[in-house]
Amino acid sequence: MSAPKWMVQLLLVIFIALLSSSLVASHTIHNESPHRKLASPADSGYISIDCGINEAYTDNESNIWYQPDSNFIETGQNHILPSQYTFDQHHISKQLNTLRSFPDGDRNCYTLITPKQGRSNKYLIRAFFAYRNYDLKNTTPAFDVYLGVNHWKTIEFEDVLSYFLIDVVYVAVTDTISVCLVNIGKGVPFISSLELWFLSDSTYSISSLLPQDVMTRSNLGMSQDTVFIRYKDDTYGRLWFNRFIGNSKTINTSSAIDANGIQNTYKLPSQVLKTAIQSLSLNSSLEIYFDKNTDKSYEYYVYLYFFEFEEQARTQKRIMDITFNDVTILTQLFTPQYMKVVTIVRNITKVDQLRILIKSTPESDLPAMINAFEVYRVLHQPNSPTYQEDVDAIWSIKRVYEIPRINWQGDPCIPTNFTWEGLTCSSDSNPRIISLNLSARRLTGEIDASFSGLTKLESLDLSNNKLTGKIPEFFSELPSLKFLNLSGNQLTGSIPKSLKQKLNTTLLLSLEGNPGLCLTGSCEKKKSLVPIIASIAASIVVLVTIVVIYVMVRRIKRKKQGVSKKDGQKKSKNQVFSYSQVTRITSNFKTVIGKGGFGEVYLGTLRDGREVAVKLLSQTSNQGYKEFHSEADLLTIVHHRNLVSLVGYCDEGDVKALIYEYMTKGNLQQLLSDKSPNVLKWSERLQIAVDAAHGLDYLHNGCKPPIVHRDLKTANILLNGNMQAKISDFGLSRAFANENDTHVSTVPAGTLGYLDPEFYSSGNLNKKSDVYSFGIILLELITGQPAIKAASPGSVTHILQWVNPKLGNGDIKSIVDPRLKAQYNTSSAWKLLEIAMSCIPPTAIQRPDMSRVVNELKDCLALEISIERTESSRRKSSNSLDMSSLNSFQIESVIRGPYAR
Ligand SMILES: *[C@@H]1O[C@H](CO)[C@@H](O)[C@H](O)[C@H]1NC(C)=O
Ligand SMILES: *[C@@H]1O[C@H](CO)[C@@H](O)[C@H](O)[C@H]1NC(C)=O
Ligand SMILES: *[C@@H]1O[C@H](CO)[C@@H](O)[C@H](O)[C@H]1NC(C)=O
Ligand SMILES: *[C@@H]1O[C@H](CO)[C@@H](O)[C@H](O)[C@H]1NC(C)=O
Ligand SMILES: *[C@@H]1O[C@H](CO)[C@@H](O)[C@H](O)[C@H]1NC(C)=O
Ligand SMILES: *[C@@H]1O[C@H](CO)[C@@H](O)[C@H](O)[C@H]1NC(C)=O
Ligand SMILES: *[C@@H]1O[C@H](CO)[C@@H](O)[C@H](O)[C@H]1NC(C)=O
Ligand SMILES: *[C@@H]1O[C@H](CO)[C@@H](O)[C@H](O)[C@H]1NC(C)=O
Repeated sequence: MSAPKWMVQLLLVIFIALLSSSLVASHTIHNESPHRKLASPADSGYISIDCGINEAYTDNESNIWYQPDSNFIETGQNHILPSQYTFDQHHISKQLNTLRSFPDGDRNCYTLITPKQGRSNKYLIRAFFAYRNYDLKNTTPAFDVYLGVNHWKTIEFEDVLSYFLIDVVYVAVTDTISVCLVNIGKGVPFISSLELWFLSDSTYSISSLLPQDVMTRSNLGMSQDTVFIRYKDDTYGRLWFNRFIGNSKTINTSSAIDANGIQNTYKLPSQVLKTAIQSLSLNSSLEIYFDKNTDKSYEYYVYLYFFEFEEQARTQKRIMDITFNDVTILTQLFTPQYMKVVTIVRNITKVDQLRILIKSTPESDLPAMINAFEVYRVLHQPNSPTYQEDVDAIWSIKRVYEIPRINWQGDPCIPTNFTWEGLTCSSDSNPRIISLNLSARRLTGEIDASFSGLTKLESLDLSNNKLTGKIPEFFSELPSLKFLNLSGNQLTGSIPKSLKQKLNTTLLLSLEGNPGLCLTGSCEKKKSLVPIIASIAASIVVLVTIVVIYVMVRRIKRKKQGVSKKDGQKKSKNQVFSYSQVTRITSNFKTVIGKGGFGEVYLGTLRDGREVAVKLLSQTSNQGYKEFHSEADLLTIVHHRNLVSLVGYCDEGDVKALIYEYMTKGNLQQLLSDKSPNVLKWSERLQIAVDAAHGLDYLHNGCKPPIVHRDLKTANILLNGNMQAKISDFGLSRAFANENDTHVSTVPAGTLGYLDPEFYSSGNLNKKSDVYSFGIILLELITGQPAIKAASPGSVTHILQWVNPKLGNGDIKSIVDPRLKAQYNTSSAWKLLEIAMSCIPPTAIQRPDMSRVVNELKDCLALEISIERTESSRRKSSNSLDMSSLNSFQIESVIRGPYAR
């Protein structure tokens, strides 16, 4: 008796329906047909994946065709950023607004097939990561990214809103490239976009096959408001970021440059070629600093690009010498060529900082110049991939039997702690698969020929599956096969003769539990449909059960995730004042010393004679009430010598007041204003910058969770009698993990002129927005100009609109506050300007962390002090300025480039 066909079909239909409903319910794309997964539909071979999308599209700005993940990976879940966290004015915002996360498995890999025909095997691979609270947990993960079998980078976020970009030049040695996200126990890995571009063999070919991880790719002399240069301007898809270098001026050409019609091996886009920087005089140099925290264990490749477009260079000589850390890198003096791109490539090892100095030689008629540069870190490659034929065979087996194991991704053997479950590999330099155990994996169908590709196989266990058909001959041709267990299947036919011969010499073969198998003599065929159908039905029941359990588990999980997390706030141990005390302290609110964000500020005197500032909350504003508590709460937790400290507070009925230490010198805005009777000296300005940077660095990196000030401006930087600067006004501050929901304030935060343009529209502010505001403050210190100035009635000028046009002209005096009457050192002024400019690129990704800014500012202050000292001693002896004092000065983050960390 056989079960009717319709019953089987019905069961299948139910199963499929359940499966698809579970997909809808959990909003995930799940194991699509594995047969599809490796096909790359991109005819061009370029691959651009917008992770987390469901349907491919062509980006209307770049014209790039973006595909969903499902063509490249089987695992993971799609997510869309919560609406209040989406990017909306970024060139790449569409790609960052969705992502794919990998809650299951230690390693999840994208497999990119590399088309070989007629193309080089050198690629640019780039990935973006933007967490932005997609999972509503307000906790950023950290995870590793592997390129093939080797570590590429550890992804760690500075805060919930920051994002990350990695970019590598990679020579593929295998037919596929896997990019793997590895769970290191610090949260769920995810990815926002992944791209693969072709590079020509003749580019980036300084050495061998080692991957080159981009540290910086900088265009020099570009207009400050250009975000970056990208495809289609750059046919290789590179992103060129702007970089401001002090002590230089920008030069450009207005003539059309045909980037394809000139000698241009690296295919630099014409926009990169058309601008350059030039030293200010024949005897001054261009100085480019690169990351003083450079990891000494790596080798670095530096690419310098020169393109002579100046007419006068046809008649006059431009001859240059280039040094890295004071060692010349040229065997002969160098002259850029007219209308030709010249690339100078050098490696450098065992350094913890790099100072590139380009200067013209005494014979030169023209000053030093440079157009662009790149720095790459050469990735260590301790692991080699599994032997390619074994890789092909095991992938083929995976496909044929649709093996859905979560850890069957990427290279089968390497790294060794990610070896696929059921595999044992040899320890050869290219490992071989020596045993494969697929016992009880519900394999169906015949024994596939792909097993024969595992030519070093010693042990194969296929027992307890539903394999049908005959025992293939090829087992006898596997030279090392010692153990073969085929028991518990539905194999038929007889044992091939060749295999029989090996039986009692080398091979141990198990065949029990295959009722259809004919072990001796003549073999007749039995027909038995019942067990097959019964087993199909049974396995469907099992699958349905699994799916139902899966759906239930997911629902439960989701419910759990929905519970919001609340951090306990540490409680105040500040003095509590009564209303009558407040009245007495302030002599009945006699002296108004300012107007804060939410009320008047009065001068007060405590019993012990200490002067205090009393900030009284005006009774009219609700918002103010919230901020009052926010500020009181934060200030009771946060203490630092560069943050205004809270003496106490009063919260009595309607009266709410905050009592602070009194900062006698007032705020920086007043001190910088035209009305201020005294002009701040240059060294005082540097000291204020260092102090304020320390305070902000403490909020960002010394507090757990980090605190974003959100309203940094000169009016919020106060000075005490010793001219020590302290940051105040925490009313708008947010400690990230304390936000118990995802709602970023929709109330406009911050102050016009200081607001991060990237987040202006969304109202989302993060650490990097504070860095932007801080950069504006530095510009105010340098120029003495306010952030926003009334230009004419009804229109205002932003300080950047004022500074930007002056940056390229190489005249620092036109930028620095004229009230200083040139009482400053120009190198120190250039350096401070470099630091300020490094803080305010339009994209947050390019801005440094405050810890770096602090170090640079400290170096800048040290430089100023050392110069002052040198100058005072020079007045005695007439020694010239010791240039080696500059060694102590490093502007690493200015050079560090767009790539966060
Ligand atoms: C691209 O499309 C978006 C909306 O679909 C639109 O806002 C934007 O202006 C378009 N950009 C271009 C360059 O067409
Ligand atoms: C890198 O530099 C070292 C010396 O510093 C040199 O021996 C080596 O050949 C260089 N490697 C390449 C690829 O140029
Ligand atoms: C080129 O230089 C001129 C003069 O310095 C400047 O006005 C212009 O804005 C520059 N053009 C570009 C594209 O940078
Ligand atoms: C550079 O040269 C100019 C004249 O060409 C001279 O006035 C100046 O003092 C020189 N600067 C230095 C640092 O030697
Ligand atoms: C894998 O092994 C390496 C080194 O043996 C170790 O550092 C790493 O933490 C391991 N990763 C996991 C996920 O176990
Ligand atoms: C294969 O794995 C099963 C369990 O997964 C185990 O019982 C069996 O012993 C393994 N076979 C070999 C040859 O190790
Ligand atoms: C082969 O597999 C079956 C089922 O897993 C097991 O009972 C049997 O012991 C295995 N044979 C050998 C020789 O290990
Ligand atoms: C081993 O092989 C020989 C001949 O090849 C056969 O006579 C003998 O029975 C075999 N022994 C076993 C244990 O299979």
